[in-house]
Amino acid sequence: MTHKVAFNFADGKTLFFAVQPNEILLDAALRSGINIPLDCREGVCGTCQGRCESGDYTQEYVDDEALSALDLAQRKMLSCQTRVQSDASFYFDFASSLCSAVGPALQRGRVSAVEQVSPSTAILHVDASADGQRLDYLPGQYARLQIPGSESKRSYSFANQPNATNQLQFLIRLLPDGVMSNYIRERCQVGDEISFEAPLGAFYLRHVNKPLLLVAGGTGLSALLGMLDDIADRGGCGQPVHLYYGVRNAEDLCETARIEAYAERIPGFRYTPVISDASPGWEGKRGYITEHFDSAELHDSPCDIYVCGPPPMVESIKVWLQDQTLDSTRLYFEKFAESNT
Ligand code: FES
Repeated sequence: MTHKVAFNFADGKTLFFAVQPNEILLDAALRSGINIPLDCREGVCGTCQGRCESGDYTQEYVDDEALSALDLAQRKMLSCQTRVQSDASFYFDFASSLCSAVGPALQRGRVSAVEQVSPSTAILHVDASADGQRLDYLPGQYARLQIPGSESKRSYSFANQPNATNQLQFLIRLLPDGVMSNYIRERCQVGDEISFEAPLGAFYLRHVNKPLLLVAGGTGLSALLGMLDDIADRGGCGQPVHLYYGVRNAEDLCETARIEAYAERIPGFRYTPVISDASPGWEGKRGYITEHFDSAELHDSPCDIYVCGPPPMVESIKVWLQDQTLDSTRLYFEKFAESNT
């Protein structure tokens, strides 16, 4: 069975290619025009090393000068010695330009719907099926959209997982005066052509072997919905998943029915909304998300934390984690600055 593999690079670019059954990963990459740096091709020099972020794989000979036991435990691998047993993603700590001139592809789609899902948020639905090519991306990544009728581009995380018909969703915060917000409010029509670069970004779901703590601030929820859809479609990830979702006012919460439905599809799913500026009638959690983390539970059961939200929120979580000295907890984050124009 052919497997789909993603190579993600330090510049945030991702290249996808197919690997034939039992094929060496390096051979498949080279066949697809992805010229990973190499030297010995015998598992000795370590030049072709990367790290497996998700999926199953085996390795042939790995010299201990190339990768240590600790490296192997951290899922570092040598492309020239690796075979994949499932779809998989790998990270390489150098820019994609070192091995390929190919950047993220320019894609085309058409607006298929706009849904206002809270007073401050809309979901832009884009049908990108016209050219018949499946659009690959990793749940959590983003696209850079050219806003119709303007020279401006804005970046938005995919709010659903990749699918066979290329039906895409993006969660959009509606600003009082923003180029995308104004387009959606004033001119957007079903059928509008919209072009975008994708896939982009290094924020995506890795191999899951610890409980997951997902933290969304505002429309940072978008990237986490993509990850949760993917986990739900697989019937769970073998670990509990806790989503914290912070917004300023309770009315800003969106997609709550979709979020609550994950409890039916993801074993061990929990959801905690947190309102920073709650009105007296709000009966749930208030304040900042870090005030509601269970420090004792995180010490007892280290987890992987994925955070997507505005920079102050991401920074506050980094500071909180440093104060807790949670050594075996891994943090992945995506900061987005909401453009005011
Ligand atoms: S090219 Fe030398 S270890 Fe792979």
